[in-house]
Amino acid sequence: MASNYPVDLSVKPEVKAFFDPATWTISYVVKDPASDACAIVDSVMDIDYAAGRITYESADEIIAYVKEQGLKVEWLIETHVHADHLSAAPYIQDALGGKIGIGEHIVTVQETFGKVFNEGTEFQRDGSQFDRLFKDGDTYSVGSMHCFAMHTPGHTPACMVHVMGDATFTGDTLFMPDGGSARADFPGGDAGVLYDSIQKVLALPDDMRLFMCHDYGPNGRDIAWETTVGAEKQHNIHVGGGKSKEEFVKFREERDAQLAMPRLIIPSLQVNMRAGELPPADQDGKTFLKVPVNGL
Ligand SMILES: [Fe+2]
Repeated sequence: MASNYPVDLSVKPEVKAFFDPATWTISYVVKDPASDACAIVDSVMDIDYAAGRITYESADEIIAYVKEQGLKVEWLIETHVHADHLSAAPYIQDALGGKIGIGEHIVTVQETFGKVFNEGTEFQRDGSQFDRLFKDGDTYSVGSMHCFAMHTPGHTPACMVHVMGDATFTGDTLFMPDGGSARADFPGGDAGVLYDSIQKVLALPDDMRLFMCHDYGPNGRDIAWETTVGAEKQHNIHVGGGKSKEEFVKFREERDAQLAMPRLIIPSLQVNMRAGELPPADQDGKTFLKVPVNGL
């Protein structure tokens, strides 16, 4: 594999995927092949929004797997502030340890949504809820496996793609080749910027394994989450076959104008901008999520 990257791309981590049918999210446990160390990418906390009920079946499944395999969690990676599911990172951290990491531009996202949800001054907008804020190109390790984070804005300002050996976690940049790309119309999103970020992912070696954050099973096919850079370059319906930035931006903006808001965007943002913690309880010990009326 090419060597113009800060880590050894020939290391082959074991990747275990967990699909959450309620939010179409795929979470991952990524194990260093040379030790028991692992990272957990984009975990899910369950919510019945209509009932205001939070549960942890999805996270418990991951916790059970990690325990059963005897793994040691070193990182809980959030590829970005998700708008369609709630992160279970702090719940898993309590059970298994590990550091919660996200892109440094989380501060921009916190600034934006701190205003939208009219959070008081007790809501810190400096990313301090997270254990590590990754900068573009930052390296870190999972056991003896070296990894790096690429800043890939466009879907949101804080998006990062994580490269762990020969496995790359795309977050919401790319979907499977027949799924295309993520929307770019959230606050701070930009279709042209997303195109440029996707090119950074497609510049990885052709045989790099890519793992999606979401799959919606387009055209009735079974849910899938793994592909390669080579397959995306050739076949991705939004960016494959050398589609130009102009074509992509025009298509993406027209498509985004027709998309409804994700069902869980309001609870997701309030929780995920706090690294997966619920808002602080009131003086009676009760916890609430807000709905900003005409605020999004
Ligand atoms: Fe997302």
